[in-house]
Amino acid sequence: PEAITVAELANRMAEKAADLVKSLFKLGMMVTVNQTIDQDTAELLVEEFGHNIQRVSDNDVDIDSAADVDAEDTLQARPPVVTIMGHVDHGKTSLLDALRGTDVVRGEAGGITQHMGAYQIKTKGGDLVTFLDTPGHAAFTQMRMRGANVTDIVVLVVAADDGIMPQTIEAINHTKAAGVPMIVAINKCDKHEANPQKVRERLLEHEIVVEEMSGDVQDVEVSAKTGKGLDELIEKILLQAELLELKANPDREAEATVIEAKLDKGKGPLATVLVNRGTLKVGDILVVGTESGRVRAMLDDKGRQVKVAPPSMPVEVLGIGGVPMAGDKLTVVDSEQRAREVSSWRQEQATAKRTATAPASLDTMFSALA
Ligand code: GTP
Ligand code: MG
Repeated sequence: PEAITVAELANRMAEKAADLVKSLFKLGMMVTVNQTIDQDTAELLVEEFGHNIQRVSDNDVDIDSAADVDAEDTLQARPPVVTIMGHVDHGKTSLLDALRGTDVVRGEAGGITQHMGAYQIKTKGGDLVTFLDTPGHAAFTQMRMRGANVTDIVVLVVAADDGIMPQTIEAINHTKAAGVPMIVAINKCDKHEANPQKVRERLLEHEIVVEEMSGDVQDVEVSAKTGKGLDELIEKILLQAELLELKANPDREAEATVIEAKLDKGKGPLATVLVNRGTLKVGDILVVGTESGRVRAMLDDKGRQVKVAPPSMPVEVLGIGGVPMAGDKLTVVDSEQRAREVSSWRQEQATAKRTATAPASLDTMFSALA
């Protein structure tokens, strides 16, 4: 978007075109309402009229991680990040508990998962797998909407005694939209009323054809209660992960995604983050969303202090200046000055967006033109 007519700009600012022409005249420019002016002149005018400017392209203060690509020879295999989805009470948390040898379900209020849990397990073969346990699918969708695609594989949990339910279908749709491969775990197969075959058949209606039905979506009968099929589930996850050839450069400044964040009365802002690339270290200076800080301490999923977090590891970070939002990108920078520069730029941007008198920002103006 390089140019805009005076009339169009006036329209976007809800000002009179004649007033713009007058201002331009004062600036030494003779233009009519139907003539175009360049972006710099447009910005000048917008400022003249006391509106806010947001240039879409002017991003040089911020961090552009997309432009910062790691060379092929720096990449190393990283553990898969697996999101567990499924209808309420179908046994997502129980399955994770069984895989981890823990008992999170019993500690939950009403047995309902309230927040997204992030865990990493070590398989018998020594492979690491990262799991995200979602409370409903809002968190998953919200993160995706904010551009955070952290999930490599979805495990869809369907209770064999309950079958396909509304949130099962929701999960299928979200997974399809995200373009992430799915593995179906048919749970509660210990129950006498369990009917796994019916689950497979009903999945056909949603274009999920599992292996048992000669399709290519892996499925496995499990029981979180008896432990049946859990090794097989892990094998299938590892097989899927191998096909994806998941890699990241561990030897660089870290980039991570906020999974959840909260304010702790004693510890201050706490953020559970998942490292995407690089290695996050205690002492690192960081920017996360509109916040900045320094990693004071890191805790793993068992609450133990760790000094470093490599790719795909979830950790709780202490030392951030404020509470970031789920889906925010965390980036390690080389100085506190740089951290402050980026975070205050982002704060300005956020404030400008909030206070902008609706049609007057160049951002909306140019995106509307595009
Ligand atoms: P939300 O977090 O509320 O969405 O539920 P969830 O999907 O995490 O289910 P959760 O693990 O809390 O399990 C729900 C109930 O099902 C609990 O009472 C579990 O004990 C029970 N349950 C889970 N898995 C099994 C299983 O394999 N067999 C049997 N018999 N019961 C199970
Ligand atoms: Mg749960």
